This record gives sequence, structure tokens and C-alpha cells, in this order.
Amino acid sequence: MHPMLNIAVRAARKAGNLIAKNYETPDAVETSQKGSNDFVTNVDRDAERLIIEVIRKSYPQHTIISEECGELAGEDKDVQWVIDPLDGTTNFIKRLPHFSVSVAVRIKGRTEVAVVYDPMRNELFSAVRGQGTQLNGYRLRGSTARDLDGTILATGFPFKHKQHATPYINILGKLFSQCADFRRTGSAALDLAYVAAGRVDGFFEIGLKPWDFAAGELLVREAGGLVTDFVGAHGYLTSGNIVAGNPRVVKAMLANMRDELSEALKR
Ligand code: IPD
Ligand code: CA
Ligand code: CA
Ligand code: CA
Repeated sequence: MHPMLNIAVRAARKAGNLIAKNYETPDAVETSQKGSNDFVTNVDRDAERLIIEVIRKSYPQHTIISEECGELAGEDKDVQWVIDPLDGTTNFIKRLPHFSVSVAVRIKGRTEVAVVYDPMRNELFSAVRGQGTQLNGYRLRGSTARDLDGTILATGFPFKHKQHATPYINILGKLFSQCADFRRTGSAALDLAYVAAGRVDGFFEIGLKPWDFAAGELLVREAGGLVTDFVGAHGYLTSGNIVAGNPRVVKAMLANMRDELSEALKR
């Protein structure tokens, strides 16, 4: 196994086990608010600490970027671990058992290793660049849909970016007239993992953060899928406006989004 994948898996499993354990004891969970509709708990922070400990033990020189603690610069800036210790905090708080741990390794800006772990189902999605995507050790392939007909698309509502509500709803309406149905699961990292697994045919969301999609992006690509921004380019790396699916589904989604994009959504 790729040595960094080994560490990413160890870290994600440790954090996932801690999250699952705390899910059973809701009275011990302390929630605070970071911004409007934006929550964090002691479990997000404890899981983050565990992941960082595991990485630091093997790779003290690497840089770490994680949702709750920001950037921890290491001597080696070329290797970055991009972490979401608990993706789906709102589900966790509401006791809706769908959330994940996301760990990615980027070397000179390119993602090489990815792990998304769902501790409630014990599903571990992983990828190493050039080696395909696996779920619990079995190879995954994405959807083979040729167009939007019959597809299930995942999305996340822009609940932290309500200024985009109107174009978002318009896009949703257009896509809905052509796909079979939508899913809004509450964990973007798992949405991307599910695209990789063909459980959903496509995904789009406005304004994700690098830790939400760093691992999921590689899972999708290594399963034969495509990840772009809303105009088919790479702007999502900074904007977080992301579309994912097999190349034909992405093309069909983009064609439907084109006329509904505000200037801010074109990057
Ligand atoms: C959130 C989840 C959610 C998505 C949000 C993210 P968090 O991450 O991925 O599905 O819609 O945009 O912020 O805050 O639970 O780690
Ligand atoms: Ca969060
Ligand atoms: Ca997240
Ligand atoms: Ca998070």
C-alpha cells in the first residue's frame, strides 16, 4: 500500500471511531456556532486532533490544512494534507447518521491520495492517483449514464451563501425537469464518494471549501469521472463551485446551468 494512504486510512478510521462513539452519547456533544447556519462541535475538534497526531507522527515535516484549525505550516510546503475531520456536522448534531471523515494528500497542488470514511456504515472509500478508486478494497466504477434521463443527482443547498439562492433554484429547476430525482445528503465528501461508486450519477454544489472536496475529487476521477466548475474549467479549486459525474453527465449538467449563471458562479 502507498505509505501515505496507509497513514490517511489509519487517521480517518481513528477519527471515525471517535465520531461514532460520540454519536451514541449526544449529551456529551457541545455545539457552538461559527457563523450563520454554520456549526461546530467538540467532536469535530477532537477528531481533528487525532488525525493531526497520526500524520505528525509519520510526517512531522508536512503541511496540514484542516477545517477547524486552518493551516499548520510544516518545513515541507509541497506536501499538504487537506482534512475535513467531520463532514456533515449538521447531520451529526441532528443525529442523522450520515457523515464522514475526509483526508487528502496534495503534492505540489495535485491530489495523490484520498480517503473518505463513513464510520456509521464502515465504508472506506480510497484512491491513489493512477490506481483507481476502491470501497473497502473493491474497485469502483462511476455511473455509465449517457445523459440526464433517469439519473439521480446529488447536491447541497447553498445554506451559507444565500445570495446565490435564486440562480441555484433556477439551476435545480432546469436539471429537475430532465433528471429522475435529487438527493441532498448533507456530506459533500460522501456525495463525491457516491458519484465515484455510481450510487448517484452526478453532483453539484456552490461554494465548497477545499477540505470538502479534496479527497472526493480524486475518488471521482479515479473512478472514471470528471470534476469541473460551472463552466467546465478549474475555477472550483478556489471558488468551490463544483460539478462532478461521468463526462457525459457533467456535459449535460453544464449545458443546463449555462443560462442561469450569475457572474460570480462563472468561476
Ligand atoms: C458541509 C457538508 C455539506 C455541504 C456544506 C459543507 P461540514 O461540511 O459537506 O454537505 O452542503 O457546504 O460545508 O461543515 O459539515 O464539514
Ligand atoms: Ca463545518
Ligand atoms: Ca465539510
Ligand atoms: Ca467539517
